[in-house]
Amino acid sequence: MSASLWDRRVVPHLVEWACGANPVRRQRAKIVPGARGRVLELGVGSGLNFAHYDSDAVTAVVAIDPSRELLERARVAARDVPFEVTFEEASAEALPVDDASFDTVVVTYSLCSIPDVAAALLEARRALRADGSLRFVEHGLAPDADVARWQRRLDRYWTRCAGGCHLDRDVPALLAAAGFALEFVESLYLPGPRWLNYNTWGVARPG
Ligand SMILES: C[S@@+](CC[C@H](N)C(=O)[O-])C[C@H]1O[C@@H](n2cnc3c(N)ncnc32)[C@H](O)[C@@H]1O
Repeated sequence: MSASLWDRRVVPHLVEWACGANPVRRQRAKIVPGARGRVLELGVGSGLNFAHYDSDAVTAVVAIDPSRELLERARVAARDVPFEVTFEEASAEALPVDDASFDTVVVTYSLCSIPDVAAALLEARRALRADGSLRFVEHGLAPDADVARWQRRLDRYWTRCAGGCHLDRDVPALLAAAGFALEFVESLYLPGPRWLNYNTWGVARPG
């Protein structure tokens, strides 16, 4: 089976299954309801965050993802939401949006998969108003040396079968390198393998 067939036919099911697990849903509930105003969601996947937005606070969501298959699922998930959702088949590294045109950027479990994550975070900063915020929940590089060692060892194998997902990205450091000021960051291990389940979440300001 070619990599592209795997990515198109199998990975969307894996993403929806893994990202729909209860511990992951609880992580979304810590971050997504705080989104306000005009929201840009990076790597929307199958739209699992839509149910978590506060419809009194959100005026519109622009949802981007390069995967046509996942966008089709997200369109179905958006059918019943009471705010406007528009979809762009696009990459976070080259956002088809104006400068300073969003109040909130939401990104959940996608910074692991975006190939040029540094470029994507610079784009997210460009898209945000000066008083806006980026709200994130991600898995990534663990602070424990033994876990981090396994993450670095397994990364090259994992990324090939998990749609380009990386295990060893240091999300707070990437945000800081892109010029974001971290308002708060929290972390924990979700249940399951520690190399996969070290989560960080928080809010970052464009600075
Ligand atoms: C693990 S899924 C997470 C999906 C969703 N954010 C969620 O929380 O359920 C990773 C997502 O990143 C998307 N992705 C991969 N490369 C990307 C890129 N260059 N720009 C934006 N999204 C990308 C994938 O298509 C996929 O939807």
